[in-house]
Amino acid sequence: MKIHIISVVPELLESPFSHSIMKRAAEKGLLQVTVHQLRKWAVNEYGMVDDYQFGGGAGMVMMCEPLINAIEELNAEHKFDEIIYLTPDGEKFHQGIANTLSLKNSILFICGHYKGIDQRVRDHFITKEISIGDYVLSGGELAAAVIVDAVGRLIPGVLNDETSALFDSFQDNLLAPPVYTRPEDFRGWKVPPVLLSGDHKKISEWRHEQSLARTQEKRPDLLNKD
Ligand code: ADE
Repeated sequence: MKIHIISVVPELLESPFSHSIMKRAAEKGLLQVTVHQLRKWAVNEYGMVDDYQFGGGAGMVMMCEPLINAIEELNAEHKFDEIIYLTPDGEKFHQGIANTLSLKNSILFICGHYKGIDQRVRDHFITKEISIGDYVLSGGELAAAVIVDAVGRLIPGVLNDETSALFDSFQDNLLAPPVYTRPEDFRGWKVPPVLLSGDHKKISEWRHEQSLARTQEKRPDLLNKD
């Protein structure tokens, strides 16, 4: 999968994809992330990409021209399946969206700043608008990092144990069950005996029960979703 990101602060995205699973995905050639500095398409030599909003009001708006020139140039080359704008008024991100996006070949993310981007870019170029939660970040970069991480680990072959993503929290609207590792007894706090029983059927039933109980307790809203 090829992911391109347009940002005015590309430095914010230097680290998130350079470690751990995202790094491995890149090394295996399964995920390629390219970050573009929007100022490359600035309207003047001072790197201008934003301007005052019509109608007045505090805060700058990211201009059509640099964004559209950037989008058109990159899209001509890469033919994106989705052009996604990160914004607090987008659809709230969830595992289902991550699953869908993990099947795409190429995605372009647009990171907003200031008061956001000129509405005409949204109207004519953006195919999907996503929020990572009901709070306002200073820009879309951290949201892009969250989404790329959630999507990247779902690309077939990225995780060592192919099955492990299937048992993540949220894959079937259930939270994941508790997990334990050695030692069996730490300060008298013991691992549930069923996990040491070697009986795989029992273990699987126990995990499902725990998932249900945990979801009921912490996120009952998930149990009523289809
Ligand atoms: N940009 C600013 N806040 C955001 C949010 N909550 N989700 C996605 N992009 C954003």
